[in-house]
Amino acid sequence: MAKYIVQGGRKLNGTVKVSGSKNAALPILCATLLTNQKSTIKNVPDIADIRNMIGLLEFVGCKVTFEKGVITVDPKALKSKPVVMDGVCNMRASVLLLGPLLARFNKAKISFPGGCILGKRPVDVHLTGLEGLGGKVHDDKEMISMTANSLKGADITMKEISVTATENIVMAAVLAKGKSHVRLAAAEPHVQDLCRMLNKMGAKIKGIGTHDLTIEGVSKLQGANHTVIGDYLEAGTFAVAAAITNGNVKITGINPHDLDIVWNKFEEAGIDLKFTSNSVEVLPHGRLKRVSKIRTAVFPSFPTDLQAPFTVLLTMTPGESMVHETLFDGRLNYLAELEKMGAKFEILNPHQAIIHGPHKLEAAPISSWDIRAGAAMVLAALAAKGKTEISNIGFIDRGYENLEGKLKKLGAKIERV
Ligand code: EPU
Repeated sequence: MAKYIVQGGRKLNGTVKVSGSKNAALPILCATLLTNQKSTIKNVPDIADIRNMIGLLEFVGCKVTFEKGVITVDPKALKSKPVVMDGVCNMRASVLLLGPLLARFNKAKISFPGGCILGKRPVDVHLTGLEGLGGKVHDDKEMISMTANSLKGADITMKEISVTATENIVMAAVLAKGKSHVRLAAAEPHVQDLCRMLNKMGAKIKGIGTHDLTIEGVSKLQGANHTVIGDYLEAGTFAVAAAITNGNVKITGINPHDLDIVWNKFEEAGIDLKFTSNSVEVLPHGRLKRVSKIRTAVFPSFPTDLQAPFTVLLTMTPGESMVHETLFDGRLNYLAELEKMGAKFEILNPHQAIIHGPHKLEAAPISSWDIRAGAAMVLAALAAKGKTEISNIGFIDRGYENLEGKLKKLGAKIERV
């Protein structure tokens, strides 16, 4: 697998436009299966997870083209067949085929999804939600297997607030007979974007952006044109890159309010920001200040996907900072890599760590643990003294489009070997 070699210590300066959101594009591509008409999706990032999803759509019979950020999906020849291929096991988001296939064919069979190893990642919330709409889960140790006589609108209270489970249930409910009410729905910007795409296809979803969705089922949907939102998680990653190198970077192509709570933490650290309706500029800072704690939770709280990137900044802020990861129990593993670079911390339990700062990071051979931890390693390398080698960067390629190209344009010294 390719590696990055990063020479740290260079300030980043300039403007960067983020790519389209991975976590919006993936469910939106699955939503195109809910009709037999062609859809066109713009601003799609060219990353491994999207290529993987295209493979899955082709496997179930769709014709797909992908050029310059634009994907067309023609699902005329879509078939319901057991989805067993490597793509399912490599990517958690493959589970998003379940809702659309069940809604179109009243049956769906798909291998258990893989993806980043973030601890236990069950699919029970997906299954109970779809059962609420009339789906039946069949006993199968190898695959998720569901059928339905026909899906019926229902009042569903999700067992837990889950992003992809909400997306699956909404994609099934839009074609169910009658009205559904989904309580404790996830409200992340990518869930909102999926709902907007579905409404363009003719769905009737209300309450977008809240934890309470009402969906009036329709008998048929049509193809649609949609532009995917900018990736607010990529924006947060670049914002940390600017801050840890004490640079001056304007990040465009996002709704900055999607990250309000993250900006609060930048300000707590003494880092000033300038906003427009579609950008944030990270300004050079003086002495950094202590950040007492970050606590991840569902939107609009601090996103778990920015926990590892932000913790790199916490190694540079003075005093003790608590990192509380409430969603996943395997999302502090990357700290072992930061330790090799000289970071000082205590892990209290799988969900909590105390970071002791400030500590100048030093170059060391390190590895990526998952998409976001991989990005955090690049950030640590940008801040460190010396030349850092980062292995396993295939994880980073799953979620970030041309990360090294964008960083180079801002003045970083980073090479892929
Ligand atoms: N959960 C269950 N049962 C389920 C589903 C989830 O107990 O059936 C639990 C999880 O164990 C976790 C919590 O619910 O504690 C929330 O997980 P969620 O289901 O929301 O995560 P996800 O839908 O599998 C999406 C993103 C992840 C992101 C999480 C949290 C996509 C394709 N993936 O995953 O993104 O970390 O939401 O925001 O949207 C990434 O982009 O790097 C990434 C991992």
